[in-house]
Amino acid sequence: MTAIATVSDNPRYARSIESSKRVRWDIEKDVIRGRRFDSAQKFLPDGLSLAGEFAFLSPDEKRFVSQIQGRTYANIFGLVERFINAKVLELSHDHWFGDQVALEALVRFSDEELKHQALFRRIDAMIGDVLPPGYRFDLDANAVAHAVLGKSTWAVLALTLDIELFTQSHYSQSIAPDPELSELFKDVFLYHWKEESQHAILDELELVRHDAGLTAEQRDRAVDDFIELVGAVDGILQAQAKADADYFAAKCGRAVGEAEAQVIEAAFLRAYRWQYIHSGAQHPQFGKVLSGLITESQGRRIQAALATLQ
Ligand SMILES: [Fe+2]
Ligand SMILES: [Fe+2]
Repeated sequence: MTAIATVSDNPRYARSIESSKRVRWDIEKDVIRGRRFDSAQKFLPDGLSLAGEFAFLSPDEKRFVSQIQGRTYANIFGLVERFINAKVLELSHDHWFGDQVALEALVRFSDEELKHQALFRRIDAMIGDVLPPGYRFDLDANAVAHAVLGKSTWAVLALTLDIELFTQSHYSQSIAPDPELSELFKDVFLYHWKEESQHAILDELELVRHDAGLTAEQRDRAVDDFIELVGAVDGILQAQAKADADYFAAKCGRAVGEAEAQVIEAAFLRAYRWQYIHSGAQHPQFGKVLSGLITESQGRRIQAALATLQ
């Protein structure tokens, strides 16, 4: 490498900068545009909220479920983007005195994730303005980030790739095609999707780059770390499914018995596991990238761990 080796040898970093500049948006001017949420509308689409699991509820109650899940959807992204951004900033260190194009791509990535966290805080408050009080999301983004970042970089990058790929498939397969959704809610995830498309490419580039420096033993331990991270995500989902089911029961306007409360909580958990674990694990690009890095037996270990979360 020469002292002026500043040109990236991978054109995908440069392309991601171009796309990032082209799609860049502002929270108030482009996304919110002076609008408010309307409690008469559905927020999260049926394909993500697993509306079929709540078929025993009335139409109004089903809509309330989609609103609760929509609020949690925004909050979960705000939560995970804290550790994603910290890891991106850490990885940028590898490029400080090298590939300046890769460095710029990661700086833009970080800037966008800070903006997205601000967007999701705004959305949480705006949904809070139109729904009954009592909703809880007690997870501390910093505490979660500290725990996640204690795992190996490989595992954190694999989880991040998973998340940023499912963000895209959720939007294109479930949010965009649903004609009944709140237009404001839809726009939040349209604009988010526009910037996430670049992130998933950068996650893949950084994961493959980082992976090339690992020994087989380090990678094998990283696979265990990844499985532990997925387990930790599931712990978060179990807690939030309980909080959201309790909120639903308290605010749906009728008495909910113990047996029905359990059925509702189980339905919330199935929806959250679909949203944050299984839809990403099934993403073809995630499978393709991961299978290019790990052995078949490591892949089976991951599959076996996922199969326990049904
Ligand atoms: Fe984001
Ligand atoms: Fe992202």
